[in-house]
Parts: sequence; C-alpha cells; structure tokens
Amino acid sequence: MTTDTLTVSKSPVTGKVYEIPAVKEDKTGIDAFIALHPGKKVVVVQGLGFVGSVMGLVVANALTEEYAVIGIDLPSPASYWKIRSINEGIFPVIASDPKIEEYYQNALRKKNYYATFDPYAYSKADVVVVDINLDVQKKSAKNKDLEGYNVDLAPFRKAIEAIGARCKEDVLVLVETTVPPGTAQKIVRPMLEAALAQRGLPADRLKVGHSYERVMPGPKYIDSIQNFYRVFAGTDEKSAAAVEGFLRTVIRTDEYPLTRLGNTNATEMAKVLENSYRAMNIAFMVEWSRFAEEAGVDIYEVVNAIRMRPTHKNIMLPGLGVGGYCLTKDPLLASWARMNLFGSEEKLGQSEKGVHINDKMPVYAFDFLRSQYGASLEGKKVLLLGVSYLNDVGDTRYTPVEGFYDQLQAAGCEVSLHDPHVKYWEEKDTWINPQLDELLQEHYDVIVITTGHRDYRGNAALLEKIKQQPAGWIYDTIGVLTNEEIRSLQEKHTVKVIGRGDL
Ligand SMILES: NC(=O)c1ccc[n+]([C@@H]2O[C@H](COP(=O)([O-])OP(=O)(O)OC[C@H]3O[C@@H](n4cnc5c(N)ncnc54)[C@H](O)[C@@H]3O)[C@@H](O)[C@H]2O)c1
Repeated sequence: MTTDTLTVSKSPVTGKVYEIPAVKEDKTGIDAFIALHPGKKVVVVQGLGFVGSVMGLVVANALTEEYAVIGIDLPSPASYWKIRSINEGIFPVIASDPKIEEYYQNALRKKNYYATFDPYAYSKADVVVVDINLDVQKKSAKNKDLEGYNVDLAPFRKAIEAIGARCKEDVLVLVETTVPPGTAQKIVRPMLEAALAQRGLPADRLKVGHSYERVMPGPKYIDSIQNFYRVFAGTDEKSAAAVEGFLRTVIRTDEYPLTRLGNTNATEMAKVLENSYRAMNIAFMVEWSRFAEEAGVDIYEVVNAIRMRPTHKNIMLPGLGVGGYCLTKDPLLASWARMNLFGSEEKLGQSEKGVHINDKMPVYAFDFLRSQYGASLEGKKVLLLGVSYLNDVGDTRYTPVEGFYDQLQAAGCEVSLHDPHVKYWEEKDTWINPQLDELLQEHYDVIVITTGHRDYRGNAALLEKIKQQPAGWIYDTIGVLTNEEIRSLQEKHTVKVIGRGDL
C-alpha cells in the first residue's frame, strides 16, 4: 500500500487531532469485521461525508435485511478523522435529528458499521454505494465575482477506478453522488467493464445504477433518506432490478413508493433539474427584493399574499445568499454535461445565470449595510448570528456568511461569531463561541442575523438582551424578526431587513 508523508487530520466535532498512518493498509481490520457477520451481505459506502456517513447508518439499520456496512473514505487531512470518529463511537456529523444518535448507537451495539480507508474493502462488497463529492471549480469562488467554471472529473474517475480494480464481477455499484447527466452510462459503466476485462473477469453480471439522495440535513436527516420518495434507474434491466431490490430493503417504499425512470441519464437529469429549479426560484427573487427596497415595499408581505394561491406556494423569500454544496453547483454540472457529454454547443444559460446571481447575494447584502449605515464601518464591532448556510444545521460549506464576513473584515470591522450548531468553522479555521449570553456581554455597533436558526426566532430572552445593548444597528438579512419584534427593537435601535423598503 502507499506511503505518504506523515500528516494529521483534525475533527471539527471534538477538536481531536489524529495522526494519519504512513502505511495505508487495513486488511486485518476489514477481515475481522467481516468475520463478525457471517452470511450477511456487505455494503460498502464510498465517501463518509454529510450524505455517505448517514446513508451508511441507514443501511446499517436497514428495514428488512441485516447488512455489514463498511464506510470508506480517503486518509486525507480533511477526511481521515471521519473514519476514526465512526470507529471510536462519535458520529462525525452534528445534527439536530435525534434519530442519528439512536441509529448510531444501534449500529455500535450490532457492530455492523465499520469505517476504513483501505480500498481492499471493495473486494468484499456485494453493493457499493458511491456517495463521494464531485465538485465544480468556480473561477473566483472567494469574491464571488465569477462567470467561469470547470468540472474536473478526475477525482471521481479515480474513485471508480479504485472500485473497478478490486470489485467482484457481480457487484452492484449504485451511484448516489450528484453527477453530470450521462455519467453512469458513459463513464462509470464503461470504466468498470474495462477494469473487469483487464482482470480477466466477465462483465455480464455487473450491475450499475443511479439513485439520488434528497438528504435534508437538520431535524429530519434520517427520514429524508429512509422515509422519503426515491427516484432510480439502471444502466440495463438487470441493474435496475438490483437497485430496486436493494432500495426496498433500506427505504420505507410501502409508504414512499419508488419512481423508476427510463435510464440513468434521466435520473441524473432529474436530480440536477430539481436543484436548478430551486436555485432559479431564489435567483428570481433577488431583483424583486431590490425593487421592493426602492419602492418602499415589504417584500415579505407581498410574497405571503401571493403564497395564498396554491399554484404559487413555493415562491421564495429574500436572503443573505445561497449556500450549501448542492444549489451552488448542480445547475453548472447540468450545463457542463450538456456541452461536454452530449456535445451540445449551447449551455443551460438561464440556469448558469441563476447560480451567478445567487453567488453575488452576499456582496449585495454588504453593500446594502454600507450604504444604509452612512458612516464608515472601519473599527465597528459587529456580531454575526449564524455562520452555517441553513437554519438548524451545522454545515458551513459555501455558506454565504463567508462572503459577507470577508467583506466586513476587509472594511476593517471587528467581527464576532455565534452559531449554536457550528463549533469549528473549518473554512475559516475558527472556533465559534457557542455561549451567546457571554458574547452579548460585549457591546456591538451592528448585530446581523445571518442564519435563520430556531434559536434566533421568537426568542424573547435574546430580544431583551439585544435591547439592553447601547443604541446601534440590527440588520436582519433573512427576515427572522416579526413586525412586533422590529417595532420593539426600533424603540432603541435602527433596524434594517433585506427586502423591506418600508423600514
Ligand atoms: N449535502 C447534501 O445535503 C446533499 C444532498 C443531496 C445530494 N448530495 C450529493 O451527495 C454527494 C456527497 O455529498 P456530501 O455532502 O456528503 O459531500 P462531502 O464532501 O461531505 O463528502 C464526500 C466525502 O467523499 C470522500 N471521498 C472523495 N473521494 C473519495 C474516494 N475516492 N474514496 C472514498 N471517499 C472519497 C471525501 O473525502 C468526503 O469525505 C454529492 O454529490 C452531493 O452533491 C448532497
């Protein structure tokens, strides 16, 4: 096995630092785990991130079959800690869903969820679930002033190569990663067939399918995988049947029937179209928010009035920006696939534009504050309430708070951070003080609500503490404050809300 330079991996959950072993071999550990589960099918989940680690839990707690689950990730500084954490009894994802801990304790009791970095695990798999990341490289992700991007499939190909080099000839490879449409049929299946041929094995028993996650990190994390509708397809009839058979053992398909599509191009397209629709819906509201601010209108009042129409229930509200791993890239994956995998000369122009508009939202949020504030922000003390991209979750990937925070820092502000769900802000290498009371003992010139966590909504005690601050600015970027709360704060402070020209 390979030997890399000695390096470390730090857990953002516990702060514990792990030394990454120089020898990347775990055959003994994997064999010992398999020996504990004679006769059980082995499911290897590739990628122990926000989706894969929890999918592994769901498979370890399957409904109608007992599986031995092996989660595999890379022995890299960013990911090695996840492997150690799973094996040491601390689940690597912080979430408000109590089912996560319940399922994890169950798996620990049954000893049927093991984590490793050794690709030897693929040789034992009856099913491999691919749940790794497939990133889009944006030209200038930092200042969000971007138009160009690229999709580099090399790391994804490497992951498929690792499977092909060791897998059984009759394995089911179920791709759940969000991929450019065309990937399972044009890339994964041919790569695996070629790898089997190279090993002198026939490819006629190989099964490759695609089914996408609709994971919602937060209070319904597990249910969003196990108790929710799923779309799937196979690269051939045999594969589709195998995917269906597997999904039926882990997902409550009696209540949430599976939807089978004609082929994997269609399921892959369904995933990115689903997310592009949402990203576009948000982007659409950006210019209307600006219009409302200029026209002295409360956009929330307008949207709520429109939402009375059943056909318009999902019209979006304004905000600080769009974050997370999916909506910020999936429309681009689709557009890239159209041109690069299907040879079109046209991109998905509107969908790409939607992403660009959303990426610029934090710039607007900062400009709004600066222009309204009137005075220089240099030296001002600012408290940000929330750093994660979504309410009630601890995921900071591509959080719009980052762009906003960077601009405050560049303007010379002294910025303090709070988030009840994020202990360590990985992208900023910053530990977050979870004690809001302690933070509010300091005085701030501006307090900004940057994430709509439950802790900040309708919280009378928090409101009282903010009222006790010296007269300053309260800037609500996502419409958390009610009219009554705004009126109460206005007795002392200046209150601004994105999309509210009436204040
Ligand atoms: N996070 C969500 O809410 C969500 C929802 C639906 C779908 N998805 C999709 O699911 C996929 C996974 O997302 P995520 O949020 O879990 O990403 P993530 O970045 O949290 O996790 C991906 C993991 O895969 C690992 N990995 C990368 N290459 C590997 C390899 N060759 N072998 C083993 N492990 C490898 C990485 O180290 C990382 O730990 C993505 O395609 C994403 O778009 C995510």
